[in-house]
Amino acid sequence: MTPKVVKRVQELHTLLHDHAHRYYVLDDPTVSDAEYDMLFRELQALEEQHPEILTPDSPTQRVGAAPLDAFKQVQHAVPMLSLGNAFSRDELNEFDRRVRERLEREDGVVSYVAEPKLDGLAISLRYENGVFVQGATRGDGRTGENVTENLRTIEMIPLRLRTDNPPAVLEARGEVFMSAAAFSSLNKAMVEAGKPPFVNPRNAAAGSLRQLDSRKSAQRKLSIYLYGMGELVGMELPASQTESLELLRELGFPINAETTRCEGIDGCFAHYESLQARRPDLGYEIDGVVFKVDSLSEQRELGFVSRAPRWAIAQKFPAEEATTTLEAVEFQVGRTGALTPVARLDPVFVGGVTVSNATLHNMDEIARKDIRIGDTVVVRRAGDVIPEVARVVLENRKTDTVEITLPDECPVCGSPVLNSDTEVRARCTGGLQCGAQQREAIKHFASRTAMDIDGLGDKLVEQLADEKLISNVADLYTLTAEQIQTMPRMGEKSASNLVNAIDASKQTTLARFIFALGIKDIGSSGGALLAARFGSLEALMSAEEEALIAIDDIGPIAARSVQDYFANPQSRELVDSLLAVGINFPESEVAQVEPTLEGNTYVLTGTLSVMSRDEAKTQLQQRGAKVTSSVSKKTTAVIAGDAPGSKVTKAETLEVPVLDEAALLELLAR
Ligand code: IVH
Repeated sequence: MTPKVVKRVQELHTLLHDHAHRYYVLDDPTVSDAEYDMLFRELQALEEQHPEILTPDSPTQRVGAAPLDAFKQVQHAVPMLSLGNAFSRDELNEFDRRVRERLEREDGVVSYVAEPKLDGLAISLRYENGVFVQGATRGDGRTGENVTENLRTIEMIPLRLRTDNPPAVLEARGEVFMSAAAFSSLNKAMVEAGKPPFVNPRNAAAGSLRQLDSRKSAQRKLSIYLYGMGELVGMELPASQTESLELLRELGFPINAETTRCEGIDGCFAHYESLQARRPDLGYEIDGVVFKVDSLSEQRELGFVSRAPRWAIAQKFPAEEATTTLEAVEFQVGRTGALTPVARLDPVFVGGVTVSNATLHNMDEIARKDIRIGDTVVVRRAGDVIPEVARVVLENRKTDTVEITLPDECPVCGSPVLNSDTEVRARCTGGLQCGAQQREAIKHFASRTAMDIDGLGDKLVEQLADEKLISNVADLYTLTAEQIQTMPRMGEKSASNLVNAIDASKQTTLARFIFALGIKDIGSSGGALLAARFGSLEALMSAEEEALIAIDDIGPIAARSVQDYFANPQSRELVDSLLAVGINFPESEVAQVEPTLEGNTYVLTGTLSVMSRDEAKTQLQQRGAKVTSSVSKKTTAVIAGDAPGSKVTKAETLEVPVLDEAALLELLAR
């Protein structure tokens, strides 16, 4: 082996480690996947020719190794502790009071670091002279299992510390977990393979990490965030938790972005509430917030009780799953006729609210989860609002449970129910003759993103429909203040306000109007795209299927739905009557533009001066171009305004042209 080969292998290690760090930890790659693959294959080839050069910290060593018979045990040099819990604001205040008392800072304000309490498995990563040598589970806190080979497959874990001057020993501690996206695709694959799905991301992460065959583990997408240190030799301990996390970040470890310093317990509580509100959007499960006294000298002063530190506490979110009995199933009919099975439950307290109804999604889900009337079920408040039946507690199943069947007739209008193979949901075929579809269509029409009729909420729509004052959206425009006043809790003033709001909604935009019609598969962005491309209702109504599909983000199914909608005499009649009451689109009188940019794809970045980025996007789309958010080889050009981001750098590495605002205006004028 020549010195040249040795040097190149070292170069490739550094390059590949850097690119992986940018991609997986910083989320800011500077090279394309293809370039990365090329470097990777070059290294693999050199390692094959010269096996003696292969080291465990090589970037090629993330694919898994030969299966083990069992995991070896690992003694933790510094025990891995657990945390005390708080379930209320009072308990959190009490924790802070004890901290201040012990520190003799009764009147002071303690600085804490808040970190999400990730719902996964605690692990420890050991680096000797900068190289990852061993990874272990927490186990009982003193002895864990050696899962080094499985951890090595997690790309977010650096195989080597990013420093020229590594400490003799550094143990980083954190939580391995599975993101919501990885969890749902794993479970989809499990079901397709005829295997039982995992109950939650935590179990899936645990199952993946405890695979004896690390090649299998490598197939599972696991993530990790680090939140602390264990043993440290040959380096001075930082002065605070904030600095420890900063150090870990510099060494190449991923640190959770929701980590923040809070002053005093009031700051902690405010952060807890803010994180609780954002919890559904995080993309991974957390079950609370951990608060740690920031100063490490104060941490030492506080010490431990049994196996939990006195300087930290986990404030838990209210439980989001609960068990109850499924008493009956009803079918709800949606705006486009889709039938949704809804479980009527013995009311149960979940995630801070009492739940008595939960969605069962569709018949396939019911079959997959094997749910029957009379079963004991686990109810989950999934993400933001709609509670769902997560699973059945089969051990509790009685002999008299009843199978759930799809009705042949719509429970609202009695029209036949169509159960096609191509759609997951069965549908009521009654169309706008169906009272349920009528009401849902009116609610949708009046909603904020559609016609935005202030004061016309779902409940009032129900009441007006009950009184037979409205049966379609055109009827809204003939309502009088006197009629509205007969509704419960409606005074003279609010009735006349509503009439005015209905009248004001006549001046709208074409995009809103298209969306408000409630065409199946056309959401608010679909409405905007159709309006931008066709410019007028007449043009849209006579659009050819190809012209519809040619629009970025409008697929064949949505195109079909648009055509079906306007081919239906009932909907034509409705549109005519809406135009007859005076609905018009003053701003959308734009002349229809030619699709001069069809086939081109642009990425916008930075601040434009003559128009907003949204406006530029609309104008490009009107001309048939695609506008995407990330740069790839397929990008025609990146259009950069002031202070552009990393997209320009990416464009340069991919040799994609970068245009300025003047060039954009020229494109639009073509
Ligand atoms: S610190 C000395 N920080 O919670 C304190 N733990 O109940 C040791 N966990 O075993 C733990 N997120 O699995 C800490 N930001 C975080 C955490 C966290 C999740 C888990 C961890 C630990 C358990 C203790």
